Amino acid sequence: MQRQDWAAVDDHLARALLPADEVLEQVLEENRAAGLPPIDVSPLQGAFLTLLARITGARRVLEIGTLGGYSTIHLARGLGDGGRLVSLEFEPRHAEVARRNVERAGLTGVVDVRVGAALDTLPVLEREGAGPFDLVFIDADKGGYPQYLQWAVRLSRPGAVLVGDNVVRGGRLVDPAADDPGVRGVRTFLDAVGAHPRLTATALQTVGAKGWDGFAIALVD
Ligand code: SAH
Ligand code: DHB
Ligand code: MG
Repeated sequence: MQRQDWAAVDDHLARALLPADEVLEQVLEENRAAGLPPIDVSPLQGAFLTLLARITGARRVLEIGTLGGYSTIHLARGLGDGGRLVSLEFEPRHAEVARRNVERAGLTGVVDVRVGAALDTLPVLEREGAGPFDLVFIDADKGGYPQYLQWAVRLSRPGAVLVGDNVVRGGRLVDPAADDPGVRGVRTFLDAVGAHPRLTATALQTVGAKGWDGFAIALVD
C-alpha cells in the first residue's frame, strides 16, 4: 500500500463515519486562504479527539499548538457542560485565524486562545490556577515536547489523559540519520513518558491523509 491508498481509505472511512460538516470544511478553507501550513490533524483524527474528550468526560482541556484551530474545535465540541479549553499558540497570525474559526464554530465562549511561546504561557496558566486539566493535547514545536510533557503532568489531575501528536513522522523516529531538534525532542519525549512514575502509556501508529505518523497516549496516575 502506498500513500495515495492511505488517503483513499481515509476518504472512504470519513464518508462512512463522519457527518458532513460545513463549519470544519470552511475552517480548512480559511486556513488555506490565510496561508497556514496544512498540518492540522486529519478529519478522522479530529473525530478521535472529539471522542476522547467525550469518553473522558473532559471539562478542562489544554491544547499546546493551535494553528488555525481545527483540532481545537474538535476537542471543544467534545467538552461536557460548562467545559473550557485553553489553546496556546506562538504565532499571532495563527491565533487570529483560529479565533475567527472558533467564532464560526460558535465556540468563542468556550475556547481561550493564548498567544506566546508555550513555555512562557504555561507558567501563567499555573499562576492563574487554570487547571487542573482533564485532557491535554500536545501538538506544538516537536523540540519542546519534553518540557511540554512536564508541564502537562504538572497541570493535570490524576486520571487525566495526555495525547502527543506526530510521534512517528514518517518513520523519522527510528532513522539514525534524522537528528534535527524535532526528532530528538520526540525521542526524548517518548523516553520520558515511558520512564515517568505517574504515566501509563502507549502509542499508536497511523496512516492516512496526513501520511505515516502516530499518537502517544498516556494516563496520569
Ligand atoms: N493542533 C493543530 C496543529 C498545530 S501545528 C491542529 O491539529 O489543527 C503546530 C502549531 O504550534 C503551529 O501553529 C505553531 O505556530 C505552534 N507553535 C510552534 N512553536 C510554539 C511554541 N513555542 N509555543 C506555542 N505554539 C507553538
Ligand atoms: C508538523 C507539525 C504538526 O503538528 C503536524 O501534525 C505535522 C507536521 C510540522 O511541524 O511539520
Ligand atoms: Mg500535529
